[in-house]
Order: sequence, then structure tokens, then C-alpha cells
Amino acid sequence: MAGNLSVFHILWILALVGSSVHCHFGPELVARVAPQVSPDVQEEAVRQLMQRVLGDRASNLFEVEVNKALELRSYQFRQLDNGKVLIVGWDGVSVCKGFHYYLKYVLNMDLDWFKTHIELPAQLQPKNVTHSSESASWFIYYQNVCTWSYSFVWWNFGQWRRHIDWMAMMGINLSLAPNQEAIWQEVYTETGLNADEIDAHFAGPAFQAWQRMGNIRGWGGPLPPAHRRLQQLLQQRIVQAQRDLGMSVALPAFAGHVPTGLPRIFPTANFTSVERWNQFPDPYCCALFIEPSDPLFQLVGAQFLRRVIQIYGSNHIYFSDPFNEMQPRIAEPGYISSTARAIYNSMRMVDKDPVWLLQGWMFLDNAYWSDELIEAFLTAVPRGRMLVLDLQSEQFPQYQRTFSYYGQPFVWCMLNNFGGTLGMFGSAHLINAGIMAARSMPNSSMVGVGITPEGIGQNYALFALTLEQGWSGSKLELSDWFDQFTLTRYGVNDTDLILAWQLLRGSVYHFHGLQRMRGKYALNKRPSFNLKPWIWYNASSVVEAWQLLLAANQTIPVEDDRYALYKHDLVDITRQFLQQSFDQVYVNLKSAYRKSQLARFEYLAAKLLELLADMERILASGEHYLLGNWLEAAKELAPSADQRHIYEFNARNQLTAWGPSNQILDYATKQWSGLMQDYYTPRWSMFLDAVTLAMHSKRPFNATAFRQRVANEIELPFSNLTKVYPTEPVGSTWLISQEIHDKWQSYAKDTQFLHHCRVAVKLLEGNSSIA
Ligand SMILES: *[C@@H]1O[C@H](CO)[C@@H](O)[C@H](O)[C@H]1NC(C)=O
Ligand SMILES: *[C@@H]1O[C@H](CO)[C@@H](O)[C@H](O)[C@H]1NC(C)=O
Ligand SMILES: *[C@@H]1O[C@H](CO)[C@@H](O)[C@H](O)[C@H]1NC(C)=O
Ligand SMILES: *[C@@H]1O[C@H](CO)[C@@H](O)[C@H](O)[C@H]1NC(C)=O
Ligand SMILES: *[C@@H]1O[C@H](CO)[C@@H](O)[C@H](O)[C@H]1NC(C)=O
Ligand SMILES: *[C@@H]1O[C@H](CO)[C@@H](O)[C@H](O)[C@H]1NC(C)=O
Ligand SMILES: *[C@@H]1O[C@H](CO)[C@@H](O)[C@H](O)[C@H]1NC(C)=O
Ligand SMILES: *[C@@H]1O[C@H](CO)[C@@H](O)[C@H](O)[C@H]1NC(C)=O
Ligand SMILES: *[C@@H]1O[C@H](CO)[C@@H](O)[C@H](O)[C@H]1NC(C)=O
Ligand SMILES: *[C@@H]1O[C@H](CO)[C@@H](O)[C@H](O)[C@H]1NC(C)=O
Repeated sequence: MAGNLSVFHILWILALVGSSVHCHFGPELVARVAPQVSPDVQEEAVRQLMQRVLGDRASNLFEVEVNKALELRSYQFRQLDNGKVLIVGWDGVSVCKGFHYYLKYVLNMDLDWFKTHIELPAQLQPKNVTHSSESASWFIYYQNVCTWSYSFVWWNFGQWRRHIDWMAMMGINLSLAPNQEAIWQEVYTETGLNADEIDAHFAGPAFQAWQRMGNIRGWGGPLPPAHRRLQQLLQQRIVQAQRDLGMSVALPAFAGHVPTGLPRIFPTANFTSVERWNQFPDPYCCALFIEPSDPLFQLVGAQFLRRVIQIYGSNHIYFSDPFNEMQPRIAEPGYISSTARAIYNSMRMVDKDPVWLLQGWMFLDNAYWSDELIEAFLTAVPRGRMLVLDLQSEQFPQYQRTFSYYGQPFVWCMLNNFGGTLGMFGSAHLINAGIMAARSMPNSSMVGVGITPEGIGQNYALFALTLEQGWSGSKLELSDWFDQFTLTRYGVNDTDLILAWQLLRGSVYHFHGLQRMRGKYALNKRPSFNLKPWIWYNASSVVEAWQLLLAANQTIPVEDDRYALYKHDLVDITRQFLQQSFDQVYVNLKSAYRKSQLARFEYLAAKLLELLADMERILASGEHYLLGNWLEAAKELAPSADQRHIYEFNARNQLTAWGPSNQILDYATKQWSGLMQDYYTPRWSMFLDAVTLAMHSKRPFNATAFRQRVANEIELPFSNLTKVYPTEPVGSTWLISQEIHDKWQSYAKDTQFLHHCRVAVKLLEGNSSIA
């Protein structure tokens, strides 16, 4: 359908340019990219989803209907005479969103990333609640190209199935399908590259996101051929499952990055070497970039996209990011617009009706991208044919600076997380206000809301909040929203729990500033005296919230896995306390060193090691905080036994050295049991020992020597080790947490501790807490 209407649509857009852009791009884009899946198929997919979520009782309780006569992006539900609840929606996703609303706001039972099944009370009598709702967003978007490497990399279809169910229930209906290596293998082979040249290009399983963007090549490889095939099959199943529910997927289009062997075959084509990224050394960096104006670009691009569509089908939306963390070669509007046009035209050679999905990330904080060049890039493509992801709108929005992307439709995205690192962090109030403000901005071309975390698995509340605010046309009342979140998370109306989450909302989740938070705290950074920890909230709030959570143990229902979620949160908040306490002790240790106070130094050094040991114990008790899960999942994915070591190497290296010699050391650091014990603790021990020795012998501490030693003895070897870690939690979370609490509360009253620990961590000024 989209194809047949294209000319009409273009004329329609042209007629509308200058009037209120906001209202017209949405339906236009939806019509173009919505999957053409029949209502029957969508209804059946929704029934199966409900069955997975609720079990066999789903069909006794719910009836579903996909009805295209309904308002676009809407659902409604009511009770039928037979007692069942009928949910009608414009598409499968809308019905799922209605289903989630019913679960969360009528039954008070919610799900999350870790909990995708709900056990209903045996005596449930559905009440006759009627409700209808229409999404204020044309698109609800999810994913970052990096999420595929930091979070999804080892997943099997079962895990995907549950995740897609969650996506549908949150109303998400646009995401990425980035898998492409099997296709490139064929395209490169056809152009005449040999196997060695191709192998040297593909990065290992944990690093494909950056190879796809042209940042690195070959690192972590060789990529087993079976991996390419199996991942393609997996991607096909994922895409099918999404479309059956009415979701659209954006497919990869060519962005210009190619193996270094290509000039051998096309000696006269116009190549440039991609600039070095994060000091990756030669065999692993600097793929080539084909100038988009070169006919070879069109040739390779068309050959690639044709195959992509053959393998995955198409929703007419394609992502291509030629300049992610790299600079175009000429700073000139004519060049930049012809580049953008060439990329778009290479899509049009294959699909006459494409939409180009672009990450607005490249415009951020980049001296190259002057307003003039941004305008040239964005307006080179007809309006409505580019959909821009404003990638980190909660902190660094670009839509104002670009006058709403010069009229190109855009999606307001919350990123929040880099590298899948842990640590409670977020800006609930800014999400709320930002989405509403961007929508009502004069001449706004915003058509949706999305979440674009580099990694998932932490700070779920913030992502849920963004997605719900994305659907809602009016501003959510934050305090109420957190109350409902607490009630539906634990399945109990408890004032302690509600207060605990309100404290978190006002502290860790109330960040406001331009400082870049990358999830690195003193304890998971390489030890040194140059660290400058900072905190944006009153640390007492976390302690109070922790105490309230501990006190609620007896009130959490044991049914329906509620206790498992509670334990998960208890591990997280204990972890947060230890993380912030480590920073607190560290700044004092630094002061003791500066003042040559040996006794104080030794006292605090022992405390730091005690914090790390406590951290290891609490993390080991939580099923989602285990290094073992990550490593075993990686090895499990290896196509054959002799390839397991490549997978384990990839898994370990991404978390630690991130490169052959600490290129992006600890960027994707994880506060996990196992890493705490065998990586962060030995690192700090080595440091504290070396400093203690130096202080005893009254010599300055040699930081250079330490850096070399820690790299060679701990950081770099870690990727090659093969120690096996538990995949099952150990110990009672509640008991461990309570014990840690009591111990550190007693230290907090201990005069010696207070005497030694007087220096405070730098507290960011302003907006750091709310009344
Ligand atoms: C909105 O668009 C109209 C028509 O193009 C223009 O006249 C007006 O100045 C714009 N307003 C703002 C605030 O950009
Ligand atoms: C996205 O979801 C909304 C709500 O279900 C729906 O109306 C809209 O058409 C969807 N867009 C696409 C592209 O499927
Ligand atoms: C539920 O309420 C709606 C609206 O008030 C009504 O149309 C419907 O008949 C009711 N269903 C039952 C089973 O009473
Ligand atoms: C390669 O492309 C650049 C940018 O368009 C252009 O300036 C240059 O002349 C081209 N070189 C050749 C050999 O075509
Ligand atoms: C929760 O309990 C409070 C009183 O403690 C009450 O006001 C509120 O209505 C209850 N909420 C629900 C959803 O039961
Ligand atoms: C504090 O927040 C307000 C709005 O919420 C903002 O205008 C101001 O710049 C913030 N101040 C700091 C120091 O971040
Ligand atoms: C932090 O909160 C505690 C208790 O709620 C309070 O006593 C203390 O003064 C606060 N500290 C700051 C810096 O606001
Ligand atoms: C905490 O709650 C769990 C589950 O109800 C229970 O098994 C355990 O005994 C409780 N622990 C304490 C110390 O109350
Ligand atoms: C510090 O260690 C480095 C590397 O081992 C060594 O080259 C240097 O001479 C040492 N500096 C001092 C002052 O001892
Ligand atoms: C890790 O193993 C690879 C070979 O698999 C080797 O090249 C590299 O030097 C090893 N690194 C360390 C630090 O042992």
C-alpha cells in the first residue's frame, strides 16, 4: 500500500509544508512504515502473548480484536456479557498496550524486563471497567545500535520472545534489526574480496555494533561463519514476531564503510581512510569509507539493501549513520548535501519509497557540524523522508538548536545509560517536562518518543516512565506515577515502600546538569589519586530508602515472584549504598595520602577492601548481578566447542579492557559478582599495597609503575582467563543486606571512623534534591 500511494503522499507533504508540520507527518509516516499484517494474524499473536503472560487463564478472561476502523494508535476495553474483557485496538501493539494498562492500572500488577509472567489471584472477578486511550505519539521507539552488543548479544529466541512481549505491552512499535554480517559476506564475496580480507573486517560477536558503524574492524574476531548464519536466522524470527504484533523494524542500509581490501578490486574508486577511533591500533582500526558520490557507493549500497530486503522483508524504513563519531572530509554545505542525497538515493534505487532513520548523535558537541552544515544535511532529503532520533533528549537535546531538525520529523529519546553500567541514575522530572515541551514547541516536527539506552538491566522505572509519558497526551503526575509503580511492582500497598521510592525519585532520579554520567564510580575505575568523585543527591536519601525497603520484607507477597523483584531491588539499593560509601571513603583516603597520615590511610584502606568484600557478597545473592550468567551465555552461543574461547574472550574483554590494550578501559564496567572479586578488588588491593609500601618507606608512590603493573597483571590478562563463575545466587539477600546495613551504621557512629572520614564527596550545586 505504501508504495502505491507515494506520489500522492509526496504532493500531500509539499502542500502541507509551512503549516503545522506536527499533525501531518505522523499519519503519513505511519502509513508508509506500518507492517501490512492482517488483523487476524495480529489478533492471534496478541492471544499468544497473553497466554505467555498469564498462562491458560488468559483466554477465559480476555478477548481481543484488531479493528482498523478505530482511531489510529488507540485501544479501548470493556466487559462483555460473557464476563470476559474485550480489548479492541487499532493494531496488535495497541491491543497489547491496552492489556498492559488493564494489568497495571485495573489489576495493579506490573511487569518489567526481568518479570514477564503474572500469576493472577485464583479468585479474580473482572470488574466492568471501561477505558479508551489514544497515543499522543505516532511512534514509540526503542533501541540503540549499541544495545545489541551490550545487552542482547548472547540472547536466544526465548529471551527475545519475552522481551518483544514486553515491548508490545509498552506500546513500542519501531525498533532496529541490525544483523547484517551474513549478507555482507555474500556481497563482499561477489565483489571479489577473498576470505582473509573479509575475515579481517568482521569484529567478534561482542563488538559488532562498532564494526557496523565503521569505528573498528576485526577486533575480537574471527567471527565464526556459523555465527553469521545463526544470527541471521535469529533476526528473521525476531522480525517476524515483531511484525505479527504490528511492529515495524528499521533495517540497515549502507553507510559507506567497507573492508580495506576493496581498492584492490576498485583501484579508481574514491576511498578515504576512516579516522582512528579511540586509539585502536592498526589491524583493528581504520576501515575505508567510499565517497557517497562515487558510483561504487550506489552499486554496493543497492546490492546490500536488495539482499537485506530479500532476507528480512521491509517496512520501508532504513537506518544509516555514515558519520557516527567520525568527521566528514569536507566542511562545505554543497558537499554535505550531496553526500546525504547520495545515501538517500542509494536507498531509493532499491525501495522507491524509503524513510531514512538517522541518529542525531553526530551533531552533538561536534565542532564540525555548524548549523549551516546540519541544515544542508537534513534538508537534502525531502521532508518526511528522514526520521531523526534525538538520541539523548533528557540531557543534550538537539531539536531546539536545529529548529526541530529543519522540519524533518524526529523522535524524542531518553538514553540515560552508557555501556550498560550499573548505578541508580536518572532525571524523572526532565523526562516528563521535556516530552511535553518538545511536543508543544512552535512548529514542532516531533512524531514520537523513544528509549535509546546503550544497555538495559538497570533503572527500569525511568524507562517505563518515558514510554508511558510517550503515549500519554497529558503530563503524568510524577509523585502519583511512582506510587503506582511501587504498588504494582511489589503487589502490596505499603507506606514504607511508597516512601522509599519517593525518596529515590527525589534523589538518585532527580539529576539535573550537564555533567556526563557514564556509570563509573571510584570502586569500578582504575585506582589512582586523580579520581574526582561527585554526587548529585543527598546520600542520606538512599540510606533512608534502604532502611524502608529492609523494613518491608515481611509485607511483600511471596506469590507471583513479587519477592524476587523485591530482592532484586534490595541488592540494587545495597549496591548503591556501597558504591556511594566507597566514594566517600576514597576522598578521605586521598586526603590521608596527601597529608602523609599513615595510620589514617591504613585504616581507610582496610575499609575500602571491606566495602568491596561486602559488595561481592550482596551481588552474589542476586540472580541478575552475576558475571557467571554473562560468561555462560556467551559460551553457550558458540557454534562449536573449540570456539567457546573466542566467545568468552569477547564477553570478558567488553566488560574490562574493551580493546587489545585498554583502549576504552572499563567503559562497559559492570558491578557484578565475580568481577568484584577477581577484577575490581585485586586492582584496589594492588594499589593500596603499593601506596602503603611507599608511605612506609617514605618514598613517593610511583603511579606510572602502578599503571603498567595493573594493566599487565590484572586488566589485560582478565580477558584470557577461563575461570567458571556461579550462575545461581548464593546467600539470603535480606540477611546479607541487613548485616551490611547494621555494620556500616555502626561505623557511621564510630568516632574513629568519623574522625578519619570527615571530607565529603563533592555535591553538585543546585537541583540536587527536591522538597
Ligand atoms: C513556524 O513556521 C512558520 C511558517 O513556516 C513561520 O512563519 C514561523 O516563523 C515559524 N515559527 C517559529 C517559532 O519558528
Ligand atoms: C505505532 O503504534 C501506534 C499505537 O499502537 C500505532 O497506532 C501506530 O500506527 C504505530 N506505528 C507503526 C509504524 O506501526
Ligand atoms: C460494562 O460497561 C459498559 C459501559 O458502561 C457497558 O456498555 C457494558 O454493557 C457493561 N458490561 C457489562 C457486562 O455489564
Ligand atoms: C573524491 O571525493 C571528494 C569529495 O567529493 C572530491 O573532492 C575528490 O575530488 C574526489 N577524488 C577523486 C579522485 O575523484
Ligand atoms: C493504599 O493505602 C492508602 C492508605 O494507606 C489508601 O489511601 C490508598 O487508597 C491505597 N491505595 C490502593 C490502590 O489501594
Ligand atoms: C536547575 O533547574 C532549573 C530548571 O529545573 C534549570 O533552569 C537550572 O539551570 C538548573 N540549575 C543547575 C545548576 O543545573
Ligand atoms: C541530607 O538529608 C539529611 C536527612 O534527611 C539531612 O539531615 C541533611 O542535612 C541533608 N544534607 C544536605 C547536604 O542537604
Ligand atoms: C523476609 O521475608 C521472607 C519472605 O517472606 C521470609 O522467608 C524471611 O524469613 C523474611 N526474613 C526476615 C528476617 O523476616
Ligand atoms: C616509576 O616507574 C617507572 C616505570 O617502572 C620508571 O621508569 C620510573 O623511573 C619510576 N620513577 C621513579 C621516580 O622511580
Ligand atoms: C591473550 O591471548 C591472546 C591469544 O589468544 C594473546 O595474543 C594475548 O597476548 C593474550 N593476552 C594476555 C594479556 O595474556
